Amino acid sequence: ASAEADTPHPRGPITVAHRGASAAVPENTLAAIDEARDMGIDWVENDVQRAKDGELVIMHDDTLARTTDVEQKFPDRAPWKVADFTWKEISTLDAGSWKGPEFAGLKVPNLEQYMNRVEHNDQRLVLEIKKPELYPGIEAETLKELRGLGWLDRTHVSRKLVIQAFSADSVKKVHALRPDIKTGFLGTPPVAELPQYATFADQINSNHGTVSADYYKAIHALTGPHGRRLENYTWTVDDPARAVELAKWGADGIITNKPDEIAKALAAA
Ligand code: G3P
Ligand code: CA
Repeated sequence: ASAEADTPHPRGPITVAHRGASAAVPENTLAAIDEARDMGIDWVENDVQRAKDGELVIMHDDTLARTTDVEQKFPDRAPWKVADFTWKEISTLDAGSWKGPEFAGLKVPNLEQYMNRVEHNDQRLVLEIKKPELYPGIEAETLKELRGLGWLDRTHVSRKLVIQAFSADSVKKVHALRPDIKTGFLGTPPVAELPQYATFADQINSNHGTVSADYYKAIHALTGPHGRRLENYTWTVDDPARAVELAKWGADGIITNKPDEIAKALAAA
């Protein structure tokens, strides 16, 4: 069972399914979050980008090439950027076959479909605004859509949602637009700079190769914009022994492609 994201974690870090349960099922699909749900995992992570017609879609890479059959369906449209395709076009793509024939027919979800499934599954979400520099205004558009879907009401906003990005500017925008939303900065800023990050981010979410027990201690000494202790959800950790080590050092969350194995190792530690 996961602890609440907004309290300290006496039972150790929560497990976050990175792009869903993405080792087992194609990343960033509805099937990947259903798989996480079936594994008993509350928290999932995704990546949001913007299609040509403004639709917000769930996709990690800034091209559609790796995780869909776009090259076959649209051979003349190289380099197959997300931003160059309409939602109608993206909806025709197969987002499962690249991973295995058993996943043929899975679709790229849009943000609305994705949020509705998270809600249906009673899950919680670390939503990454991916490459915001490519999509000016995407912060406000994402928040508008989340508001329309009921995700910014009090229960969801305080317990079920974190919005993160690698861009400090983007995280600052989200915080300025909706100060009630929990935010995360993706990276490992120098300890001396952490206090300024703590003015707009509740979490500093770091690559596991860049953290230490001392770094977690420096994070936990600070208070985030909501008056709670700063947290670190650490990524992407698929080795159970490494996850247990990070938990001992003080990680608040472990973001993993293998949430079943990692949650089991953390529970046994
Ligand atoms: O949530 C952390 C992680 O997703 C950041 O890296 O490239 O997998 O989006 P990436
Ligand atoms: Ca991500």
